[in-house]
Amino acid sequence: MTSVTEIVSLLQLDGPQLDDLYQQADKVCRKHFGNNVHLRGVIEFSNYCHRNCNYCGIRAKSKNVKRYRMTAEEILAVCRKMEKQNMTTVVLQSGEDPYYTREVMGRIISAIKKETDLAVTLSVGERGLATYRYWQKMGMDRYLLRFETANRKLFRECHPDDDFIKRIKCLKALQKLGVQTGSGFLIGLPGETMEQLARDILYCTDLKLEMIGAGPFIPSELTPFGKAVNSFPKDIYFKTIAILRLLNPLAHIPATTAFDAISPRGRELVLKRGANVFMPNTTPLEYRKHYQLYPGKPCLNESADQCAVCVVKRLGAIGKKPGRGPGHAISGKPA
Ligand code: 5AD
Ligand code: FES
Repeated sequence: MTSVTEIVSLLQLDGPQLDDLYQQADKVCRKHFGNNVHLRGVIEFSNYCHRNCNYCGIRAKSKNVKRYRMTAEEILAVCRKMEKQNMTTVVLQSGEDPYYTREVMGRIISAIKKETDLAVTLSVGERGLATYRYWQKMGMDRYLLRFETANRKLFRECHPDDDFIKRIKCLKALQKLGVQTGSGFLIGLPGETMEQLARDILYCTDLKLEMIGAGPFIPSELTPFGKAVNSFPKDIYFKTIAILRLLNPLAHIPATTAFDAISPRGRELVLKRGANVFMPNTTPLEYRKHYQLYPGKPCLNESADQCAVCVVKRLGAIGKKPGRGPGHAISGKPA
């Protein structure tokens, strides 16, 4: 059992000991995944959101955002292309948009399953057990829902219209259904201490997740947290991923997009320090610029085709290659 104190001391490593931490994380990653990096194409299919998370650029009250929704046919067209581009999973991500009801979303999932061999991951926020069950029946393989912070007070400060317990209930419901479940957190939220980060890492590990996504908090100008500062030094983000890998050897851990926003070649760096998944943006260009949760998002002007070519090059440059097969969980179901 690892303690908060132990994690904090790992987060404070530097010099040769830090190099050693990164090397160990990479070694564990290679042991289970070799040189393979699973590619999951993300479609940000709607930027409507009825919530008001204080850090997020597409929160309901953001008046400066041009809202869009993609049709089922538009989503399918992207999926058909994806298969030719080394991607074996589609991640359907949106704000919490009630327009995509249980049935509407269900039809999209089953159409993708019928027409392609893609694994289908959803990332559309908090819904009820019955809805998750229905989507699973329609073919949904996986679900992503970050808990964002394990500190109840900080969670309330970040999410004026949401509740930590409800969020965790959603995660538990998904796990009970046997949907491969991913969660994770933001690193460096306003007021977050190193001890809290350590607790988030441990909380995340305790959830026994099949997928773990964590990335730096990046202040987004026109949000209530627009003037906040992320007070952690950059290497804390990388250390977090390396520690998560050591504690969760079999989990799929993406090099999240936010790493590119804080550091040139940030996603490559994190793939060398424990991450094993890359999520190329496959949102059509006309929409992409309107899905800005935070500034500095990469690939805003590259088409899905360009990203697909680019990603293979980026992987090659660090001695990795696109993984084959659907990239399902190898961790088995949570105990
Ligand atoms: N900085 C970094 N990540 C953010 N997200 C939302 N807003 C920001 C921000 N300002 C992340 C959240 C969410 C995921 C889809 O994007 O963690 O779960
Ligand atoms: Fe999008 Fe390189 S991954 S341009």
